[in-house]
Amino acid sequence: MILSIESSCDDSSLALTRIIDKKLIYHIKISQDEEHSTYGGIVPEIASRLHAKRLPEILKKLKMFLNNDLSLIKAVAVTTRPGLSVTLIEGLMMAKALCLGLQIPLICVNHLKGHIYSLCISKDFAADSAKDSSKNAPPPLLESHTESLLESRQNKQDSLGVLLVSGGHTQILQINDFHHISIIAQSLDDSFGESFDKVAKHLNLGYPGGPQVERYAKICEINQYKPYEFPIPLLHNKKLEFSFSGLKNAVRLAIQDIQKPLTLQDTSRICAGFQNAACEHILRKTRLFFQHFDGKYFAIVGGASANIYLRERMSELCNEFDKKLYLADLEFCSDNAAMIGRVGVEHYLRDEFTPLLEAQIAPKSLKGDFVESATF
Ligand code: KG4
Ligand code: ZN
Repeated sequence: MILSIESSCDDSSLALTRIIDKKLIYHIKISQDEEHSTYGGIVPEIASRLHAKRLPEILKKLKMFLNNDLSLIKAVAVTTRPGLSVTLIEGLMMAKALCLGLQIPLICVNHLKGHIYSLCISKDFAADSAKDSSKNAPPPLLESHTESLLESRQNKQDSLGVLLVSGGHTQILQINDFHHISIIAQSLDDSFGESFDKVAKHLNLGYPGGPQVERYAKICEINQYKPYEFPIPLLHNKKLEFSFSGLKNAVRLAIQDIQKPLTLQDTSRICAGFQNAACEHILRKTRLFFQHFDGKYFAIVGGASANIYLRERMSELCNEFDKKLYLADLEFCSDNAAMIGRVGVEHYLRDEFTPLLEAQIAPKSLKGDFVESATF
């Protein structure tokens, strides 16, 4: 089995993935939402300190799960890029120590590749060892077919297009195979998830903002209030690129103009108006992508892919263009070590290891992992 570690941002997580059938056998994650909530965003120093404390705590639990017998662990996979430098380093230090102690190889994993592989995590444990908020989750749309989509393919029509929406990234990717991933579109400024966080911060809704803004948008819909109308970003721009900073500022100015304190109606109308504009922007650009994309398959991944409104609207768009839509189980949308372990298995099977002395974090770098495409 592979032991995997994720600490690229504000989730401390460890997992065990069996090599032979790529199944997840143990997963544990502690989020830091509460600790960062009062600041309306992640404070890197606090995140780093919490990882330093919690990673060893959850390693202890993992050891108990294995009855202290770590001999079945064949390699350690750890997120080394991209992410926050002070938090990535905590995971990498633990990974190196484990590799040294157990005399096993190290696998450095790209976090974004992890999000893509969240589409094909399958669990092999009855009791859910992962502490997460998936109680009301709809059934996963995961099929074994997804797995073959991520393997090498001959036919252009079998291509998988992926919308990656997280706190750090907003990208449309085209997956050719494990080593050939092209960036078709990305954000010029803020990411989709980050814009939800900033709107929530202006409204004092806490961190992370995505689930809060979505909740208030739902209140607006249920009460049949009229959502605010915000301009849709890059409306007349035909390029495949995203931008959220203008929309974020429009929301900030609208909040400034409302008499304080804000009522529930004000807050929910703002959230619904913002979510409508942000999702409409994503959908319009995806529509543009579909006009040129031959592939039959499309997926949404990343923390913000948990947004039900985005999922529903994207599902309509995929129906219109006759694309089959894949979604990760809600439990694995936000950062977790299960997805890192799943990528780790792929590297392991290809004998792709990094010598301990060469392993480094690369907070920003995507070099060598994804290529920018000029096809569209
Ligand atoms: O992938 P992730 O866990 O971390 C990064 O790699 O960045 O994504 C976290 C982001 C946060 O910005 C959070 O607000 C956003 O995902 N998010 C959402 C929702 N749930 C989480 N955004 C919109 N709607 C949601 N339901
Ligand atoms: Zn992430």
